[in-house]
Amino acid sequence: NKQEPLKVIISGAPASGKGTQCQLITQKYGLVHIAAGDLLRAEISSGSANGKRAKEYMEKGQLVPKEIVFMMVKERLLQSDSQENGWLLDGFPRRLSQATALKEIGFQPDIFILLEVAEDNLVERVVGRRLDPVTGRIYHLKYSPPETEEIAARLTQRFDDTEEMVKLRLQTHHQNVESVLSMYEDITIKINGNASKEDVFSQIDKALTTLIEKKNATLGSL
Ligand code: AP5
Repeated sequence: NKQEPLKVIISGAPASGKGTQCQLITQKYGLVHIAAGDLLRAEISSGSANGKRAKEYMEKGQLVPKEIVFMMVKERLLQSDSQENGWLLDGFPRRLSQATALKEIGFQPDIFILLEVAEDNLVERVVGRRLDPVTGRIYHLKYSPPETEEIAARLTQRFDDTEEMVKLRLQTHHQNVESVLSMYEDITIKINGNASKEDVFSQIDKALTTLIEKKNATLGSL
């Protein structure tokens, strides 16, 4: 009597902590983390034509055309590990047409997590963010400093992590968030993301545990 895997979407403004929470969620729940931004950055690194095109939009803080993003996300969702272990979609869908496209191919989440963070905090988080290219871990100079000198020396910064660019990314977010929310209203859970990452995770953890219990109860009553 195998339980049906969890299907989760996590959303929130730039630097609201999606990636950080996804690392904690996957550790505990074993879901496959599918991050639209990470897929796009991998495409840029590969030097492909799609990657070059995507970068032009990302450098302006705008959304990359749907055909590029959707193709990558869809391909990843359809792989067998996502089907078997469940998925955690991060940064997708970001506009109504993307949400509709996802629905059309039969992908309906169980829960839509929205991280809510005050704008001042977002800017501070972006400017202090650093990434470890070796482990993929997300750090912050003040809030999540690297554990060793060796890690500190190899940390990198994202090309779109400047104060000016985060303002543009925020604008794009505000223009689109409501329309996406309207699609998932009945399964949305709003999380206060202004707290420490552990406290934010404990709110998400509770919501996911409750959801699993509910799913099991439905399964038992069948
Ligand atoms: P993407 O890579 O998705 O960027 P984003 O949405 O701007 O989000 P971030 O990755 O910046 O932040 P996050 O929420 O993951 O925060 P993190 O955990 O790192 O997208 C980039 C671009 O790609 C877009 O602008 C767009 O052009 C394009 N794109 C992506 N998806 C697309 C789509 N669907 N369609 C079209 N185009 C698309 O945390 C941030 C920092 O804060 C870190 O330093 C972290 O250590 C720190 N931190 C985290 N939590 C806390 C906490 N609780 N307290 C203190 N500090 C914290």
